[in-house]
Amino acid sequence: MFSGKVAIITGSAQGLGKAFSRVLLEQGGKVCLSDVNPNVLEKTYEEFKAEFADSVFSLPCDVTEKEQLREVFRRTKETFGRIDLVVNNAGIVHEVQWEKCIDINLNGTIRGTQLGLEYLRRDNGGNGGVILNMASLAGIFPVNYTPVYCATKHAIIGYTRSWALHPDAVNNGVRLVCLCPSFVDTDMIKMDDKSKYIGPDLAQSVLDKHGVMSIDKITQEFLNAIGDETNNGVSIAITKEGVKNIPSPRP
Ligand SMILES: NC(=O)c1ccc[n+]([C@@H]2O[C@H](COP(=O)([O-])OP(=O)(O)OC[C@H]3O[C@@H](n4cnc5c(N)ncnc54)[C@H](O)[C@@H]3O)[C@@H](O)[C@H]2O)c1
Repeated sequence: MFSGKVAIITGSAQGLGKAFSRVLLEQGGKVCLSDVNPNVLEKTYEEFKAEFADSVFSLPCDVTEKEQLREVFRRTKETFGRIDLVVNNAGIVHEVQWEKCIDINLNGTIRGTQLGLEYLRRDNGGNGGVILNMASLAGIFPVNYTPVYCATKHAIIGYTRSWALHPDAVNNGVRLVCLCPSFVDTDMIKMDDKSKYIGPDLAQSVLDKHGVMSIDKITQEFLNAIGDETNNGVSIAITKEGVKNIPSPRP
């Protein structure tokens, strides 16, 4: 399905971004790994390089740094000759350093989407393609212990839906979707750094109520999302109970 195609995935040294990268490489795709953490990135790159050779390369990138992100796009196009999929995946939970949380989750997604549109749109030399923005179930429902994180994910959905209606995207073959999982078994939900949270007890009770999904489950829905040509503007809610495509309301 993704054979011969090219993806950029931010925050792909570990967790969901790494799993998404692996599944695309297994399908015969090519991937630019990028992450703010150079050590973990290098480890993941070495692991993938051994298996997938020249189909993968990596570039350290902090999504809060516009020029670093631009360089990821430039180098990916230069290396692989095309870009078909942009996954704005880098994200953190941090209610204390809340400006940083907004800059990574929301502003980083906006930066990546703008660059994605620039490189994908057909009237600018691209081939069309998909921009998949990592939102969360916290982009649809309130979360009492992470209001800032929740705000960033709500905003990502509004931003993505808006571009999905824009003629510059629609008429240039660019499709935009949001993935909105509930809790997934990655470092993000580890409660080892409780200072990140306004209320760790609140967090644990919400976690206990909703349960934690496997990375594999989300990876399958990621593949479904990028393959479904009818889902422009859709927010895909993924919970232990099932998957629900929430279409964008029409203004
Ligand atoms: N795990 C969950 O329960 C869950 C649920 C819903 C949505 N999400 C979203 O999925 C995405 C991936 O999260 P994850 O669960 O894999 O977490 P994770 O912490 O395992 O991975 C996040 C990655 O992003 C990287 N990153 C952090 N700041 C960055 C920056 N400034 N620039 C570039 N990379 C940066 C980290 O180094 C890390 O490799 C996030 O957007 C998160 O909000 C996660």
